[in-house]
Amino acid sequence: MLRFLTAGESHGRALVVVVEGLPAGLPITVEDVSAELARRRLGFGRGPRMRFEADQVSLLGGVRHGRTLGSPVAVEIGNSEWERKWTQEMSPAPGAPASVLTQPRPGHADLAGMQKYGFDDARDVLERASARETAARVAAGTLAKALLATLGVRIVSHVIQLGDVRASEGLRPTFEDLDQVDGSPVRCFDADAEPRMVAAVKAAAKDGDSLGGVAEIVAYGVPVGLGSHVHWDRRLDGLLAQALMSIQAVKAVEMGEGWEAAGRRGSEAHDAIKVDTSAVLSGGFGRDTARAGGIEGGISIGGLVVARVAMKPLATLNRPVLETVDVSTGESTVSFRERTDVTAVPAMGVVAETMMALVLANEALRKFGGDSMSEVTRNRDGFVAALGETHSGARPPDTGIPDAGIPDTGIPDTGPPEGRSSISGAPPGTGR
Ligand SMILES: Cc1cc2nc3c(=O)[nH]c(=O)nc-3n(C[C@H](O)[C@H](O)[C@H](O)COP(=O)(O)O)c2cc1C
Repeated sequence: MLRFLTAGESHGRALVVVVEGLPAGLPITVEDVSAELARRRLGFGRGPRMRFEADQVSLLGGVRHGRTLGSPVAVEIGNSEWERKWTQEMSPAPGAPASVLTQPRPGHADLAGMQKYGFDDARDVLERASARETAARVAAGTLAKALLATLGVRIVSHVIQLGDVRASEGLRPTFEDLDQVDGSPVRCFDADAEPRMVAAVKAAAKDGDSLGGVAEIVAYGVPVGLGSHVHWDRRLDGLLAQALMSIQAVKAVEMGEGWEAAGRRGSEAHDAIKVDTSAVLSGGFGRDTARAGGIEGGISIGGLVVARVAMKPLATLNRPVLETVDVSTGESTVSFRERTDVTAVPAMGVVAETMMALVLANEALRKFGGDSMSEVTRNRDGFVAALGETHSGARPPDTGIPDAGIPDTGIPDTGPPEGRSSISGAPPGTGR
């Protein structure tokens, strides 16, 4: 079981995350975590904080000489502005802030949080509700991605809609395209849509407005059998929906072609099963489509897992138009302006990769669990090898499963990790 807890406020001294349940022997470095955190800052339309606030990462425990020890892994992400600006306002010592925020911003946790916790200062809420918290999640996700990479599972996200500009249907990057996606100012894989998305962000910025959008998250190399049909809280689609929906400002999650499939006839909404001896991760049964997002009955069917995540336009605008009330006087006013992004959809995609990785890693450990990475990979290899034997009809008649190990899956060597697993993308692809 993989668990993680984050703590820390947006302008506090640091964010911390503790990840418990990782097997021993997983290669991880500060540079791996920093590289993923840098990806979270990507995207045209982010505010100035993303430029000046480099993440200061420390591995506080659970890692020795570049490998996990099986003990909880603790990561700290320091706030580079702490000493300069926030030591008084965010001090944990008894005292009072110099200024109190009494005008809760619509579209944020401010008002409901003040009422729920009995605060008269919105900062007591917004500091924790802020999406800065996702940096701690991304640090945890780096570990989950490293574990999945050892098992041959790779995750990529790309922006398929920004404002009202949509990418072409059916253009889906592979993991090898990830650097190319990250190189796009809006993390879009469709070269035609990209400049239109950039223009939409510029237009919204000029008006002091904000944009929402949709990111698609794709996991490749997922074996059949993650999640379960046996109980509601073990369904993989349910677990993914909860994890993805928990991202700040996400308002809708669909698996595969969820919304669109709802309007089709049943004959055109499912993924027909066929014998495909190359589909090793699904025991020799293949699909030509991924309409269900690679999950049936709450269980991964082997191959892809696809989710789409919709983010609302950000609520803090660079133009004071949203009405609110000063809770100390009861007078109407307009929402104050914190530093804000025009859009954070490209970054949200990276956070969504993280959440998918954490869910898949947890389910992989539930299925193939072990105390060391070599034990986990051995368990996974044994399961995949046995799949072909269980359903002999799907096996090629003239090739048996070798006695030792699994047939060539086309996924990376899964033996005991000798070196660092790379979780960054391959060199940029060419055509898109
Ligand atoms: C990566 C990321 C960056 C965000 N940046 C901003 C921002 O600059 N301004 C803003 O108003 N909201 C931003 N948000 C969204 C708010 O955190 C979110 O809307 C708020 O906490 C209320 O939560 P809710 O929208 O889920 O109800 C961001 C969200 C994410 C995932």
